[in-house]
Amino acid sequence: VKIAVLGTGMVGRSLSSRLGELGHDVVIGTRDPQATLDRPHTDAEGDTSFADWQASHPDVRLQTFAEAAAHGDVVVNAVAGAVSAAVLEEAGASNLAGKVLLDISNPLDFSAGMPPTLFVKDSDSLAERLQRAFPQTRVVKSLNTLNAYLMVNPKELGVESSVFVSGDDAAAKAVVVELLTSFGHTDVIDLGDLSTARGPEMLLPLWLRLWGALGTPMFNIKVVR
Ligand SMILES: NC(=O)c1ccc[n+]([C@@H]2O[C@H](COP(=O)([O-])OP(=O)(O)OC[C@H]3O[C@@H](n4cnc5c(N)ncnc54)[C@H](OP(=O)(O)O)[C@@H]3O)[C@@H](O)[C@H]2O)c1
Repeated sequence: VKIAVLGTGMVGRSLSSRLGELGHDVVIGTRDPQATLDRPHTDAEGDTSFADWQASHPDVRLQTFAEAAAHGDVVVNAVAGAVSAAVLEEAGASNLAGKVLLDISNPLDFSAGMPPTLFVKDSDSLAERLQRAFPQTRVVKSLNTLNAYLMVNPKELGVESSVFVSGDDAAAKAVVVELLTSFGHTDVIDLGDLSTARGPEMLLPLWLRLWGALGTPMFNIKVVR
């Protein structure tokens, strides 16, 4: 499948790398490809510059958000929640029309420091806002409730855990479920229409506190029934 992954952070890299391994034709999108390649790594532990990451993933092409979106039949939103609408605008409504948009973003507001709050919740969601802004795009919310590495390697936890999907378009959800299954997800819970994305987005305050309490992001929710 031709896939565009919008976002060069942990999530964009993790998704692109795994999708490439699985044989998909992947373009990763960024604002300015040269600026992204020129950006040095930070001092953060485990950080790799994009140029070093790209060198070990030569099959994943780096292009602008608009070029990437034009390439993809499936588009992944893997940018910060606060800039998601602007990035999709830059990607271009016509490049996104009719396509499946897998939205992984979280509506986190870091403006008052840590821990972040949610800038939309309860009576609306970021996924619904994006769907309203791009009515011809088929938005499916998923994977926002677990760490970037586990999104595409869920079996690494050694036990089955759960992921959620929300969306108004059944065929678009089926495309996303197939990708999730190919990553190794075996408990994919279809919550229903896109308004059900409010729940997974509102899990973030719990997820962030669990990260603090457990001291590791390598955990996930398992829905036992
Ligand atoms: N990290 C995780 O484990 C995790 C887990 C679940 C969900 N999520 C969600 O996934 C999304 C991606 O997270 P992440 O940690 O990989 O990366 P991130 O730092 O949230 O996003 C990186 C991307 O955002 C773009 N960006 C940043 N500021 C921008 C601006 N002002 N205008 C346009 N684009 C801008 C960057 O563009 P350039 O490429 O041009 O620099 C980059 O591609 C977020 O919504 C996050 O909440 C993350």
